[in-house]
Amino acid sequence: MEVIIQSTPAAAAELLARLIAHDLRAQPRLVLGLATGRTMESVYDRLARMHREDGLSFAGTRTFNLDEYVGLPASDPHSYRHYMQEHLFRHVDVDVRNTHLPHGDAPDLDAECRRYEELIQQCGGIDLQLLGIGQTGHIGFNEPLSALRSRTRVKALSPVTIAQNSPLFADPAKMPRRAITMGVGTILEARRVVLLATGTGKAEIIAKAVEGPITSMISATALQMHARCTVIVDEAAAAKLQGVDYYRWIFANEPEWEPYRCGSAHVG
Ligand code: F6R
Repeated sequence: MEVIIQSTPAAAAELLARLIAHDLRAQPRLVLGLATGRTMESVYDRLARMHREDGLSFAGTRTFNLDEYVGLPASDPHSYRHYMQEHLFRHVDVDVRNTHLPHGDAPDLDAECRRYEELIQQCGGIDLQLLGIGQTGHIGFNEPLSALRSRTRVKALSPVTIAQNSPLFADPAKMPRRAITMGVGTILEARRVVLLATGTGKAEIIAKAVEGPITSMISATALQMHARCTVIVDEAAAAKLQGVDYYRWIFANEPEWEPYRCGSAHVG
């Protein structure tokens, strides 16, 4: 795992957007795993701008989102399909038929979860998976005690997650209590994963996820087992990490990160 600390949330989002753009340009048929949530909005803003201003193309990309609320049709303004449409898909040249989210309103949810896993396999697996982190340490909606080898399935949302996300619903009481989510095992199979976290509210859980012991109580700790995992944080979210000097040294000195360092030429 590598940890990259950026000065502000905007700089952290910019770095992630540049990293995605770099991979997309290198591999136009990239299979991109997407996340929703407040943190990702500024990343999608930047990708939309790179499409508009620098010709970044999503035409060959296939996308798979991490999760979707159970019971919400794609047309529901609170669904993650709607979120993706609003924040990214309608602003870029992605073929909407190549964008995938679990169907939260499928009549047979177990069959839907199996179908989703198979579809990821048929596309050759996920090349780059974006992740946020919830207050419980969830990645996707892998709430505490999610098996570290779990696959796409229905998961009951924890009270902490309901408190985190219900203010986003017009009627908070109507937030679904369950979601379909890729499993921890599904996420760990992505060739590369990048987690973005910003703000003081994430400092405690980031320290546990990065430097704490691996436990199914905090799904993000499973990322410590991934061979190619990058965690991008702003100063506020990095505040409780012990090893910041070492992490900063790596980012400042490793040749891989040269194009992404402040003042470097644009690599998007
Ligand atoms: C949503 C998802 C979640 C969020 C997490 C952080 O698709 O995968 O794990 O990334 O809950 O959400 P925000 O960014 O709103 O704090």
